[in-house]
Amino acid sequence: MSSYEIINHEYDVVVVGGGGAGLRATMGMAEKGLKAACLSKVFPTRSHTVAAQGGISAALGNMGEDDWRFHMYDTIKGSDWLGDQDAIEYMCREAIPAIIELEHFGVPFSRTPDGKIYQRAFGGMTTHYGKGTAQRTCAAADRTGHAILHTLYSQALKYKAEFFIEYFALDLLMSDEGECLGVLAWNLNDGTLHRFRAHQTVLATGGYGRAYFSCTSAHTCTGDGNAMVLRAGLPLQDMEFVQFHPTGIYGAGCLITEGSRGEGGYLTNSEGERFMTRYAPSAKDLASRDVVSRSMTIEIREGRGVGKHKDHIHLHLEHLDPDIINSRLPGIAETAKIFAGVDVTKEPIPVLPTVHYNMGGIPTNWRTEVVSPTDSDPHRIVPGLMAIGEAACVSVHGANRLGSNSLLDLVVFGRAAAIRAAETVTPGAKHKALKNTACEDAAVARFDKIRNASGGTSVANLRNDMQRTMQADAAVFRTGKTLEEGCQKISKSYTQRSDIRINDRSLIFNTDLVEALELDNLLAQSVATLYSAVNRTESRGAHAREDFTERDDDNWMKHTLIYVDDAGKTKIDYRPVILTTLTDEVEATPPKKRVY
Ligand code: FUM
Repeated sequence: MSSYEIINHEYDVVVVGGGGAGLRATMGMAEKGLKAACLSKVFPTRSHTVAAQGGISAALGNMGEDDWRFHMYDTIKGSDWLGDQDAIEYMCREAIPAIIELEHFGVPFSRTPDGKIYQRAFGGMTTHYGKGTAQRTCAAADRTGHAILHTLYSQALKYKAEFFIEYFALDLLMSDEGECLGVLAWNLNDGTLHRFRAHQTVLATGGYGRAYFSCTSAHTCTGDGNAMVLRAGLPLQDMEFVQFHPTGIYGAGCLITEGSRGEGGYLTNSEGERFMTRYAPSAKDLASRDVVSRSMTIEIREGRGVGKHKDHIHLHLEHLDPDIINSRLPGIAETAKIFAGVDVTKEPIPVLPTVHYNMGGIPTNWRTEVVSPTDSDPHRIVPGLMAIGEAACVSVHGANRLGSNSLLDLVVFGRAAAIRAAETVTPGAKHKALKNTACEDAAVARFDKIRNASGGTSVANLRNDMQRTMQADAAVFRTGKTLEEGCQKISKSYTQRSDIRINDRSLIFNTDLVEALELDNLLAQSVATLYSAVNRTESRGAHAREDFTERDDDNWMKHTLIYVDDAGKTKIDYRPVILTTLTDEVEATPPKKRVY
């Protein structure tokens, strides 16, 4: 019996996370007549989606010829053939109505002279299956995420969705039969614990960029939903695939949008050479992110980096018309000034590949239902549980995500979750009894244990160890040796979490406790990342092994599934990549060599 009083709530659906995916799902569910709640650990419009800059992709064809089938081909190629083609078809086809909807909801997109949504070029986006260059990324200057997030929040309010703001989700409430019945959360404002019962619980908790020392992600990006899934005994998928964005500001990590290269910016080394022409003769600076990040890393390693320590690269925008900077890239001009002291109209920006996105996450099908495969059923659904956005691995990004497919993923699959919930949930249906409280008791006991932790290890020091290990050993390039060392170090850190110390026992806005809970979540995902990576003995997308330099479709055309238990023991399984399409409107794209 818990010593904490738990306040009970009943909803048809509960969405955990108030970023782009969570808000699109929440508004869609409320619009369809479901009683919907959204829990968010920060005020929704402060969620990390707000930082998305360059845009959201859709083959609208506003700037020239385009087709969603070209977009689908580019996404499959970008994923290095690890993406599930049924889900990619769904995303690229539904992109078009989903973005027209956003326009109607009120997103203030930039416009062409004739009033259409403005679209810019982004990496890896082509027409005619690799032959031309597509301008497919719909932009609201370089503040597209901000524009979308605010619009979706106002839409969710319009449909009377209920918000529980500054609620930290602790654990899923699972039945003995493996059904998700809701979620337990802590209200940071008054210290109370809350049980949210739901027929569908939707995890939209984002990525875990903060497992690394240098990332473009907000401090809140700790993958809390992913860790809740591991604690529920369910697997995470493809965690070895971590995206480095080529242009984080050197030393600060802040994002400089790929849209800056889409508007004509380019990279140079210490010799002033536009080196991308050697690595990607056709796409050059607009090759996919894994390719550009690796090329930059090679230039630096071979002594052609810029700066006193020859340890970064230059991004040039100073040749662009200042009108383009002012109208299309005002945000990054300001960011470069503040964080690098650079006037982008006069001098280059110092940049370095920086952790930006997690392709891996909670395995789902294209309907956003969480999948927990068994030997006999690789597509087995976990009843009552859905996942969307960066938390999920649908998998539309496979081994490498294309820029501007992230905002798209949020919107299309947030919308898909609402469609699916409306098909599976009857508004007002009675909730099943919580027959067994063991799961809830364990969740409260874990919370209480961390709150009262009085060991000898500071949370900040342990977090620093974890971030340094991830930065050094799960990097742009990996080898068996670095990964094995990384596994050992991260396992040690994982064990050390039982020795942490919390200085403040309060239940009200206790940021010490928040950081400890977040660290606990990050450590489990770091273990999942390193152990998945050491096992995959090939190079594919963002997973570049120097000891296994080629993609190996015969042995590795499969998704990694990893389980991490409380003792840090891992179990790895695999499941097949879906290489068939959803409809006969398009054919599957068989694997071939990936060149840009
Ligand atoms: O470069 C950017 O604007 C980032 C976009 C994305 O990650 O999709």
